[in-house]
Amino acid sequence: MAADPAFEKAASALAGYGVGAIDCALVLGTGLGALAEDVEGAVQIPYAALPGFPQGEVSGHARQLCYGTLQGRKVLIYQGRAHYYEAGDPAVMRVPLGMLTALGSPPLILTNAAGSLSPDMPPGSLALITDHINLNGPNPLVGDQGDGRFVPMVDAYDPGLRAKLKQAAQKVDVPLGEGVYMWFSGPSFETPAEIRMAKLLGADLVGMSTVPEVILARRYGLSVAGLSIVTNMGAGLHGGAPHHTETRDVAALASGALRRLVAAFLSEP
Ligand code: HPA
Repeated sequence: MAADPAFEKAASALAGYGVGAIDCALVLGTGLGALAEDVEGAVQIPYAALPGFPQGEVSGHARQLCYGTLQGRKVLIYQGRAHYYEAGDPAVMRVPLGMLTALGSPPLILTNAAGSLSPDMPPGSLALITDHINLNGPNPLVGDQGDGRFVPMVDAYDPGLRAKLKQAAQKVDVPLGEGVYMWFSGPSFETPAEIRMAKLLGADLVGMSTVPEVILARRYGLSVAGLSIVTNMGAGLHGGAPHHTETRDVAALASGALRRLVAAFLSEP
């Protein structure tokens, strides 16, 4: 497959900031930005400076990349993602993720805040995504060309990365649930009826991100893992209604466990 010029362009803009080959890329979800504080020799690059990256701000926080060293590994951390619900574009993360192919195709860990449908994964807990359901419909590869667009999605969440994350979680004593993530477009939360449906269809987690990013990443041949921070039980499962401040605050509280898990993951050989 010929290299996409948009990916080359973004990667060469990054080279101007000293970014070279990367050992691991991480996308941080809502409330999880603190993980970037652990990075040594951090170089911050605003998305606004990078061609093809989503522009604008969310909740007053500039979106930026953080490049540096974590546990002796070169990491590229995406502090903030763009969501489908912002402008209706499922491929909004195409260039930010696709350009990883020009930076050595590192493994990609996608994190998110999610609602849980399982009492075994209460708010504050971490869960490994094993598979997803794109009930939402839109696919970021609509309009893509060539046979490469027919991406197989068996083991889309890489079994090797999953095993390594489980091992790391055990090592640092971080309980790690696992389950199927169902993508809802947002930005409104689900109704209790939708949550009951999601459960019936085999979902364990619900959220407004990640799925289009996994499809894009698989299109570009990257190995992907997904981690959810459970911020609330799905609508109707636990009395009150989920809301955004809760998502942000609970995710921030659980981000310590995520930091330990990621550090242990990176320190594995
Ligand atoms: N639903 C969708 N997205 C979410 C939720 C939820 O309950 N919690 C955090 N992100």
